[in-house]
Amino acid sequence: KRPAGAPDRELAQPVKKVGVIGAGLMASQFALLFARKLRVPVLITDLDQSRVDKGLAYIHGEIEKMYEKGRLSHDDANQIKALVSGTTDKKLYADCDWVIEAVFEELGVKQQVFAEIEPIISETAVLATNTSSLSVEEIGANLKNPERLVGFHFFNPVAVMPLIEVVKVDTTSDETLATAMTVAKKLGKSAVITADRPGFVVNRLLAKVMGEAARALDEGTSMPVVERALAPIGLPMGPFELIDLVGWKVAAHVQDTMVAAFPERFYASPNLHALADVSEPLVKSKLGKVEDLSKAGKKAVKL
Ligand code: 3HC
Repeated sequence: KRPAGAPDRELAQPVKKVGVIGAGLMASQFALLFARKLRVPVLITDLDQSRVDKGLAYIHGEIEKMYEKGRLSHDDANQIKALVSGTTDKKLYADCDWVIEAVFEELGVKQQVFAEIEPIISETAVLATNTSSLSVEEIGANLKNPERLVGFHFFNPVAVMPLIEVVKVDTTSDETLATAMTVAKKLGKSAVITADRPGFVVNRLLAKVMGEAARALDEGTSMPVVERALAPIGLPMGPFELIDLVGWKVAAHVQDTMVAAFPERFYASPNLHALADVSEPLVKSKLGKVEDLSKAGKKAVKL
């Protein structure tokens, strides 16, 4: 049975080459997933070669880990590794039939990326955005072929989180939507079609959880206490551990977007922003080390 609003899968276009714009952690994670599950060439790009190389190194490291765990055979690992390549030359995207961007969460930056890539790719290629909370329609506002536009929002860690939010805008064609739903399925994810509203569905709730945890911190409750207090309610990880996972800057940015969209419903924590500025070396800290983050937070905002 088709999910509500889902188009006929027969309309889906084949995807024979994937282009990923951005080589950061999120982009690298799903570039690997595309290569692993679709077994098609995947091209990644970023502003400069060192960022591209960093993304490729991450991907190679993850393939190695999967091989060591016995999840991939030697041949599979080599095949997947060979499928992913990096470039700074966007012209090489010409024969990609699915291009997805995961660049900085700034409307102008994303619009610029789409303006650059659209004349290079074929008229039928899909342009997807992994934006977490910006308006998909606005990101694609200047496209010549807006029927190719769709939101395709992954969750961290991409390898294990089972959901993709597929965001349909008014111009999204049935073919594009069918392709997105089929790609999601081939990636082994369940897809939900959401409206193009800030935070879609999932980040609205997560931004609440993160925002309220940050508010507790602003009120003087320490991070370990917040984490410990929330441990028994059944979240897979505490809110600060989750912020650590998605990245402090990303979390602060999502908060800002939600506050701008719904000022009466969301809370922009000064502590979250202060921590975003000092947290880079602390990323990957686990609950046991939350004390360190708490100290950093106190230092940053003189609690
Ligand atoms: N990359 C790849 N694989 C990972 C991983 C990572 N970063 N983290 C965990 N895994 C894998 C492990 O290797 C393990 O695989 P295996 O069983 O095959 O060996 C499996 O996941 C389970 O790992 P753990 O044993 O460490 O398991 P946990 O039970 O602690 O689960 C978790 C880890 C799945 C991350 C769980 O804590 C969880 O679901 N946390 C919540 C995550 C969440 O809410 N994500 C959404 C963030 S919001 C977002 O991304 C949107 C953006 O727009 C902001």
